[in-house]
Amino acid sequence: MIFFFTATGNSLYTAKQLDDEYFSIAQEIHKTNNKYTADKIGIVCPIFGHEMPQPVKDFIKNARFDTDYLYLILTYGKRHGGAAELADIEAKKYGKTFDYINVIEMVDNFLPAFDMNEETALDKKVDEHISKIKTDISQKKKMISEVTQADRDIHQMYLDRMAAMPPDAFKKIYRVTDDCIGCSICNKVCPMNCFEIKNQRAEQNSQNCVMCMACIHACPKKAIQMNMPEKNPDARYRNENIGIMEIINANCQI
Ligand SMILES: Cc1cc2nc3c(=O)[nH]c(=O)nc-3n(C[C@H](O)[C@H](O)[C@H](O)COP(=O)(O)O)c2cc1C
Repeated sequence: MIFFFTATGNSLYTAKQLDDEYFSIAQEIHKTNNKYTADKIGIVCPIFGHEMPQPVKDFIKNARFDTDYLYLILTYGKRHGGAAELADIEAKKYGKTFDYINVIEMVDNFLPAFDMNEETALDKKVDEHISKIKTDISQKKKMISEVTQADRDIHQMYLDRMAAMPPDAFKKIYRVTDDCIGCSICNKVCPMNCFEIKNQRAEQNSQNCVMCMACIHACPKKAIQMNMPEKNPDARYRNENIGIMEIINANCQI
């Protein structure tokens, strides 16, 4: 049994390679009976600012895992910044201890920093890494992926940069352009139900936005842009093995 959170499919792809029984955290989080029983239970999610997305933290906090082996796989793009250690500390706050935490480098979907066309051209040996992780899990290996002082320093620099930003810096990170046709795909892929369609045009209510960027990557008209410089506003990403309907089924809240 494995649970995933995804915006652009990397974490869903990883989950599907690791277990045939995979469930979306964006859906599971609403269930009142949140006790899960299995020989092995896994969680796969992207990292945002080196940490687990808030809905994943909430899921780990509230769920009850009845298992011999609890594991966590964090997908990332360029710098994990000690994500394994940070997630271990976070889970322990909720009384949960992972037997195994690993990180896996995949396409970085963070548009302000990367041109998706350049990113997708890189060979990050994803399947090789997933295969190694699969072997570890089949052997119930106990391990927390190594974190160096340099990783911790990267995270601290990131925290310092965030602390220097104005409090409303991330209040409205997207804008919808006149190219919007009101198809509502943005809302269907949004795990937080942040959009409304009014007069055949999407409007973002960003209060619950976790900045996962599912909407901006999935818009078929590229009519959602970031309110900050993008490396390539024409390039968008979805994991090549994952269909749009899979993202919708995973995330849709309507
Ligand atoms: C808001 C945001 C923050 C991110 N922060 C990091 C980060 O700190 N380090 C990193 O290497 N990748 C970062 N990424 C990239 C994602 O973690 C990575 O592309 C992940 O595999 C996406 O998974 P998904 O396709 O399942 O959504 C970030 C992406 C987003 C949208």
